[in-house]
Amino acid sequence: PVTVFPDSASASLSVAKRIADLIKSKQLLGENAVLGLATGATPIEVYAELVRMHKEDGLSFSNVITFNLDEYFPMQPDAVQSYVHFMKEQLFDHIDIDMNNVHIPDGTLAKEDIAAFCLEYERMISSIGGLDLQILGIGRTGHIGFNEPGSAPNSGTRLVTLDDLTRRDAAHDFGGKENVPTKAITMGIGTIFKAREIILMAWNRKKAGIVKKAVEGEISSDVPSTYLQLSDKVGFVLDEEAASELT
Ligand code: F6R
Repeated sequence: PVTVFPDSASASLSVAKRIADLIKSKQLLGENAVLGLATGATPIEVYAELVRMHKEDGLSFSNVITFNLDEYFPMQPDAVQSYVHFMKEQLFDHIDIDMNNVHIPDGTLAKEDIAAFCLEYERMISSIGGLDLQILGIGRTGHIGFNEPGSAPNSGTRLVTLDDLTRRDAAHDFGGKENVPTKAITMGIGTIFKAREIILMAWNRKKAGIVKKAVEGEISSDVPSTYLQLSDKVGFVLDEEAASELT
C-alpha cells in the first residue's frame, strides 16, 4: 500500500508511532522488538520523534534490538560521516537502548574478513528471530540499503560498489565526491525481504521520479526498489511531493 501525507513531518510522526506501537506491544509480551534501521536525511524526523517519545512519553527502548542497513567501506566509526556516528547523534545517544543490542556493519574490517562478517550479520538477524520491521529510504538510483542497480533479489549482506550518482549525492557530506568511499557493506535485498514488515519512506520533489519507478515501474534489477512491489508487507510512506508523479 501507498500512503501519502501532506508533508514529511506528518509522515514521520506516523512511522514513529508505528515503531513505538511495535515496541510497546512486544513489551507487553515480554519480547524484544527487532528493528532494521536506515540512515540518511529521510528518517531524521522519525528518530527525532522517537527521542521525543522517550523523553516526554516514557517510551523505553530496553527491549529493542537494532540492525542498521549499511555502512560505508572503509569507514572509521568515529568519523563524522560514519553511520555509527549518525545513529548515535540522531537516536542512540538520546534513548535507553542497550548499546550491546545495536548492530551496524563494520567499516574497519580487513578485506579478507568481510565475507565472514557478512555471514555472521545474517546469522545474528535470524538467530534473534528475524527483523520485525525494516525502515528504508530510497536513493535516486533506486537503491534500498546500498543495493544499487544490478543487485539480485536474493542477495545477502555483502560488500558492494556504490553507484556514481550515489557518490555524487553524498559528495556534500564528504567535501567532494573524490572523498566518498567507493564501497559499502549493505544488507541484501533478500535480507530486507525477510523482515516481517517493511516501510519505505520518501520525501521531496527530487525523489518523485524514482518513487514513480519504484512504485509503478517494471520490476527489474535496474531499479532494485521495484522488488518491493512483489510483497504486500511493504508500505510506501510518501509526502505529496515525492508522490507527485504517481498516476
Ligand atoms: C541509508 C540507506 C540509503 C538511503 C538512501 C536515501 O542507510 O540505506 O538507501 O536511505 O540513499 O538517502 P536520503 O535519505 O539521504 O535521501
